[in-house]
Amino acid sequence: MNLRGGMLKFSGKTALVTGATAGLGAEFARQLAASGTNLVLVARDMDKLDDSAAKLRSEYGIAVEVLSADLETESGAQAVAHRLRSGTPAVDLLINNAGYGLRGRFDRNSPQQELDHLRILVTSPMELMHAALGPMLQRGSGVILNVASVAGFVPRGTYGACKAWLISFSRWANVEYGPEGVSVTAVCPGFVHTEFHQRMGVSKKTIPGWLWLQPERVVREGLAAAAAGRAVSVPSRRYTVAAFVSRFLPARLGAYAGKRGR
Ligand SMILES: NC(=O)c1ccc[n+]([C@@H]2O[C@H](COP(=O)([O-])OP(=O)(O)OC[C@H]3O[C@@H](n4cnc5c(N)ncnc54)[C@H](OP(=O)(O)O)[C@@H]3O)[C@@H](O)[C@H]2O)c1
Repeated sequence: MNLRGGMLKFSGKTALVTGATAGLGAEFARQLAASGTNLVLVARDMDKLDDSAAKLRSEYGIAVEVLSADLETESGAQAVAHRLRSGTPAVDLLINNAGYGLRGRFDRNSPQQELDHLRILVTSPMELMHAALGPMLQRGSGVILNVASVAGFVPRGTYGACKAWLISFSRWANVEYGPEGVSVTAVCPGFVHTEFHQRMGVSKKTIPGWLWLQPERVVREGLAAAAAGRAVSVPSRRYTVAAFVSRFLPARLGAYAGKRGR
């Protein structure tokens, strides 16, 4: 895969990144800024958004907009959808990245917790893709990158089911819209060093060191796959093999393998 080509494709364009103030989203923003891509950063915390935007502007000389929105709410998703549909400059690259995992088992979580989780991982990304696709198809070009997970390949509660939705939809949408100039890619990382596990209240110590990836690599490989118009990207060889093998595992074994993390 031509990793450098991935960055060149987005130079001078505008990318909207959700969950852009921490972890993978912050790294997407940094790598894109370094290659000359203008940005629209989305997250909830306005101070962090302003801080990230100021650093990216001064370090890379690109234009950065910020949009504070809670993607667990209908109004938050609509505010971002509005920017995608009608704001200027038009968004060339949409990165659906914001997300988190629920610590508790499905039956012990409240229905509201599960609905909020479903909204941020599935409903909001679907709304944002719908909003972005209209103008992208009209222009005959655009790239959508959905941050899924290897958890989408194994039975892993509602988290795995949400990520499986993103992978399945990306596969279909890439075939459907690719010929019209719009590609849709699901990036499926394994464990990555971000704030994810801390926010979920889960210790990282139970997960062996060799299973961890750095955000830099996940983002670099993900952007290259999106630039190449691939439907699915599983960063790193070890997780590519794991994702392949998972297809042949009985549900019980797959669920056991996915039990520790997301
Ligand atoms: N880390 C992993 O091991 C791993 C593995 C596979 C897949 N993933 C996926 O990677 C994506 C990014 O996760 P990460 O690991 O980078 O997490 P992270 O470090 O915890 O960052 C999460 C980002 O999302 C934003 N966010 C959280 N809730 C939000 C909401 N309701 N509305 C808008 N923004 C919200 C946060 O900012 P605010 O709190 O200010 O809103 C933050 O910018 C997620 O979709 C996750 O499922 C992660």
